[in-house]
Amino acid sequence: MDLPFSESYKIKMVETIRKSTRKEREQWIKEAKYNLFNLRSEQVFIDLLTDSGTGAMSDKQWSELMLGDESYAGARSYYKLKDTIKEILGFEYFLPTHQGRAAENVLFSTIVKQGDLLPGNAHFDTTKGHIEFRKAHAIDCTIDEAYNTQMEHPFKGNLDEEKLEKVLKENPSERIPAIIVTVTCNTSGGQPVSMENMRMVRRLADKYGVRVVFDSARFAENAYFIKMREEGYADKSIREIVSEMFSYADAMTMSSKKDAIVNIGGFIGLKDKELFRQASTFNIMFEGFITYGGMSGRDMNALAQGLREGTEFEYLQTRIRQVEYLGSKLDEYGIKFQRPVGGHAIFVDAKQVLPNVPREEFPAQTLGIELYLEAGVRGVEIGAILADRDPETRENRYPELEMLRLTIPRRTYTNNHMDVIAAALRNVAERKDEITRGVKILWEAPIMRHFTVELDRL
Ligand code: F0G
Repeated sequence: MDLPFSESYKIKMVETIRKSTRKEREQWIKEAKYNLFNLRSEQVFIDLLTDSGTGAMSDKQWSELMLGDESYAGARSYYKLKDTIKEILGFEYFLPTHQGRAAENVLFSTIVKQGDLLPGNAHFDTTKGHIEFRKAHAIDCTIDEAYNTQMEHPFKGNLDEEKLEKVLKENPSERIPAIIVTVTCNTSGGQPVSMENMRMVRRLADKYGVRVVFDSARFAENAYFIKMREEGYADKSIREIVSEMFSYADAMTMSSKKDAIVNIGGFIGLKDKELFRQASTFNIMFEGFITYGGMSGRDMNALAQGLREGTEFEYLQTRIRQVEYLGSKLDEYGIKFQRPVGGHAIFVDAKQVLPNVPREEFPAQTLGIELYLEAGVRGVEIGAILADRDPETRENRYPELEMLRLTIPRRTYTNNHMDVIAAALRNVAERKDEITRGVKILWEAPIMRHFTVELDRL
């Protein structure tokens, strides 16, 4: 008999989580104004709000915390991280920041000006936020296949060559500070970008004289998918694939809270010395001196170790097979989600699970509330509430994808938890004929309403 697959680690420390009653949850979600961000973590049984900063550090990472050098300038921890980034990612220059959006703030302060265009593959919210805040424009060039949730495509994060070339051809290169390639593409469902596609982006960037920046939060998961799905990469190691990926980038921004498996941290990787010098000024203004940039020495140590562990094949296989396991359970129960399964999450197609809730009543948010009521599982809406209003018309924007994201923290939950999540979702889906009304907005912030919106049930 072939031995079944199992995790590449064992558990040394645990944290108790508590189940609650439906009655308690009804009260709590009402007090939270039906916004899942407003729940206290003790009111949640299985927390799938995000995979950002929520993973479990290893014994080696915890040991590294004790070795941190907290010197203001020139700390050993800084050099340990610098050497690791050079070795694994290939960037000569780097700037530490306190998290990913801070890296975006520093880099975009250096390169983006009013009226600029930044084509890419469905930019993440904070990336788009930092672009639009500077009165520049993020242009989505993702392939059309990404918007058909039921279509199987190995690299739904890919950029469409025609769409990208059109932007590059029709605009002067001075107005295009960078092409932003998000690996994996969070917004389209944690979907990877193929090596071939990265090569295409590099070729066009060289042809039109523009930079390529990788938004790299989940770069290692992307490398895993290249190894598993792209011809010619099966025998290459994750580190070899990572190294080739970043050979096509001029710079990278990183949220270390994802694939570097730490609770806080970020950085910018750069190949150009002059750009590094310019960005350093903004780093000092916004984050801290260039050898700590908002991170403590111990956190830089844990991050350096996390980059090593996060790029090991066995770890990535354990991680992504767990997400796939949840996907296979949902398939068994007939629940529709973005196919194929992404790297860090399952994006449940709310319009298909709750077909009777009108779009104006936010089906994905409604599904999130129902799943919480059912089992204390907290997901996050990736749909019309997140998409905000059109800045000019102030009308609600209804994106093609109306999803509930079930984001799996790294090394945190077991497959028994996955079983609970799938069963709870099945129970909700079975009540779809009774769930015909959604929610209405009582109060919202003028931008980024997603996080603080107050809602009521209809
Ligand atoms: N880029 C991507 C692709 C991300 O997914 C995130 C964060 C960031 C940048 C910003 O990084 O949070 O460290 O400032 N994504 C989290 C999420 C918040 O839940 O998907 P950060």
